[in-house]
Amino acid sequence: MNSALPGASFSRRGFLAVGTGALAAMVLASCAATPRYVTPTGTPVRSAEAARVGTGRITTIDLTAAPTQIDLAGTTANTWSYGTIPGPTIRVNAGDTLRATLHNKLPTDTSVHWHGLRLRNDMDGVPGATQAPVAAGHDFAYDFITDQPGTYWFHPHVGTQLDRGLYGVLIVEDPHEPLNYDDEWVIVLDDWLDGVTGTPDDVLKELSGGMGGMMSGSSSHMMMGTRSDLLGGDAGDVAYPYFLINGRPSADPETFTSTPGKRIRLRIINAGSDTAFRVALSGHRLTVTHSDGYPVNPVDTDAILLGMGERYDALVTLGDGAFPLIASAEGKSANALAIVRTGAGAKPVSAASIPELTRTVLTAAMLSATTEVSLAKKSVDRELTAALTGSMMAYDWGINGHRFDASNPMAGALGVQQGERVRLRIDNTTTMWHPFHLHGHTYQHLGGGPRKDTSIVLPGKSLTVEFDADNPGLWAAHCHNIYHAESGMMTILGYLAS
Ligand code: C2O
Ligand code: CU
Repeated sequence: MNSALPGASFSRRGFLAVGTGALAAMVLASCAATPRYVTPTGTPVRSAEAARVGTGRITTIDLTAAPTQIDLAGTTANTWSYGTIPGPTIRVNAGDTLRATLHNKLPTDTSVHWHGLRLRNDMDGVPGATQAPVAAGHDFAYDFITDQPGTYWFHPHVGTQLDRGLYGVLIVEDPHEPLNYDDEWVIVLDDWLDGVTGTPDDVLKELSGGMGGMMSGSSSHMMMGTRSDLLGGDAGDVAYPYFLINGRPSADPETFTSTPGKRIRLRIINAGSDTAFRVALSGHRLTVTHSDGYPVNPVDTDAILLGMGERYDALVTLGDGAFPLIASAEGKSANALAIVRTGAGAKPVSAASIPELTRTVLTAAMLSATTEVSLAKKSVDRELTAALTGSMMAYDWGINGHRFDASNPMAGALGVQQGERVRLRIDNTTTMWHPFHLHGHTYQHLGGGPRKDTSIVLPGKSLTVEFDADNPGLWAAHCHNIYHAESGMMTILGYLAS
């Protein structure tokens, strides 16, 4: 997610004045030898936006990205955020227009990517592909129709900024919500090191050195020997001193207060950078209703596994008492904690493990999309393969053997034609799991599986998904481990210009 643009010497003020035409010209100029793709502001993108049926209602917000501090139960750390950590929870109704003005008060370029949204391409927030980076001291107005209800989130698409405090939740409400519940609890999971053991840039630098640093004993951020059966072995690369729920460490947990018998909708989001979380609520079973914003046929479970970027919604009927909600950092022997309290008394609640975490653990493989959101039966027009390649040893992560290069973003791109039914095979040829994420589309796991935009692909395994190429543009597709993505495990799904 490098922010460098091909020939980024143009004036950014000028860019804002002329729109993305300048960027489009650069993208085309930089890939003369490769196929021609639609541009983020081209006619197909504009027609797709014109075809979106909106309500006409507009929600206007300001998002200021700025240096700040986070209080980790008494330890203060310098970081960057959108004002609070997590940032503001934005709520709109499906079809509403979101106008979010980003004010960049950071010392460097940034952007906002709206994770999971099927939005117009030039609002997707990927510098080098869909817009110019928003320079320090500058603003950018994101303005798009949110046409699909669900649980989404947002974060920068520049460098390793995702591993700071720059993330927030976007909830697109369904005006005809079919679920019945009394209250809602948004649960954002994160792995935290910024300002404590270093910065995410320090981590990337150390990891990029591959195993060399580790061998010479100069390593301080690498975590070796993380194991998870659910993730097929190696669980992660990075050591974190804290794991947070809604921005708070276990020593200072958030309490969700309610009454016994209430039915709560949990919206769980993994905003971490190198940590999968296994989530459970002591003394309760969860009924999973949505994956990555889209409805699934409900499944009861004790715990849920979430890779980075994944979201699950679940219903739970609360018992009487005080209960720990634990998000266990998969393979890293540490837990994040929050508390549900429905009873009187001050029963203490600890971050110690709970039996639910080792009973049934739900993964996407156990889910099926509801009929309303299942893809219509259609023959496949195009088959693509994204092989996840590289190794921890060399830290040379890539896709199809190609390491993403922001100065030539369309090299190694996957081409599709608008209107096609596309079958994408994600082949994990590496010895580690990866959470694969596709922008601008919510594919369906083959065989009637769930609709998703981020999927765990285990080492040595492949996952096949299908989607309709109905949202023209240039769409990033990458591993949602920010250190893997930044090292090159990213490509562009580009709509071919006809
Ligand atoms: Cu949540 Cu390309 O990212
Ligand atoms: Cu990865």
